[in-house]
Amino acid sequence: MSSRAYFHQQIATPHIRVILDEMAIQGAAAGVPVATAEAAGLLYALARLRAPARILELGTGQGYTALVLALASPAARLITIELSDENCRAAHTYFDAAGCSGRIEVIHGDATSLLPDVSGPFDMLFLDVDKEHYPEYLVSCVPLLAQGAVVVADDVFFDGCMPDGTWLSAEKCQMITTALDEFGRLTRQVPGLFSLVLPLGPGLMIGIYQPTEGMVRTTPRSGPEIFERKS
Ligand SMILES: C[S@@+](CC[C@H](N)C(=O)[O-])C[C@H]1O[C@@H](n2cnc3c(N)ncnc32)[C@H](O)[C@@H]1O
Repeated sequence: MSSRAYFHQQIATPHIRVILDEMAIQGAAAGVPVATAEAAGLLYALARLRAPARILELGTGQGYTALVLALASPAARLITIELSDENCRAAHTYFDAAGCSGRIEVIHGDATSLLPDVSGPFDMLFLDVDKEHYPEYLVSCVPLLAQGAVVVADDVFFDGCMPDGTWLSAEKCQMITTALDEFGRLTRQVPGLFSLVLPLGPGLMIGIYQPTEGMVRTTPRSGPEIFERKS
């Protein structure tokens, strides 16, 4: 049995297992990246431990990780943002079939422009979206995090090599690696954010956000000093 099939068997009823299997297969066939079984398993475990009331995901794809998160936290409501109309439609179909559409709100559009209209607090954040904007997403999302929020970001060491072995253009690779370097630097500047990167796929960052008295979060703006610690 594959690690993904085993994962699905552990977390889902037979009915939902079939849906998860199909999502993983169809996503790959349609060229929509789907989180690895290991990354999805860790996401599931973190959500079970945190028991979030509200989750924000950027990058729905066809909904695989959103459904995993919904299964892990039956009381949670999710907001997930996705650029592609086709992916949004596929995700809606799967969420309906799994009986979870009442708890998962799919917002269709560009996360960079939609995020300012999203209201927190969120107990869990999952970034799995265009890598070149990870720094902006971190800056926009930190103010939306609840105390003790779990933060996960996929592909933080992505170098432009796609799962099928092909490479993005040299220019795009450079943009992505520059942005991910900046993202790593910013994560270390957020007061109260403890994070580490696990060697799962092209790097999975997991973190917990627990700012304490004496730490201050300044108004996000670009630049090296966006998150400052009170002296
Ligand atoms: C890696 S896939 C998400 C996979 C999904 N989390 C899963 O594992 O099931 C990334 C998704 O982000 C979407 N995306 C890329 N740029 C975006 C943007 N600016 N705003 C919203 N979605 C975006 C893509 O269309 C793609 O479906």
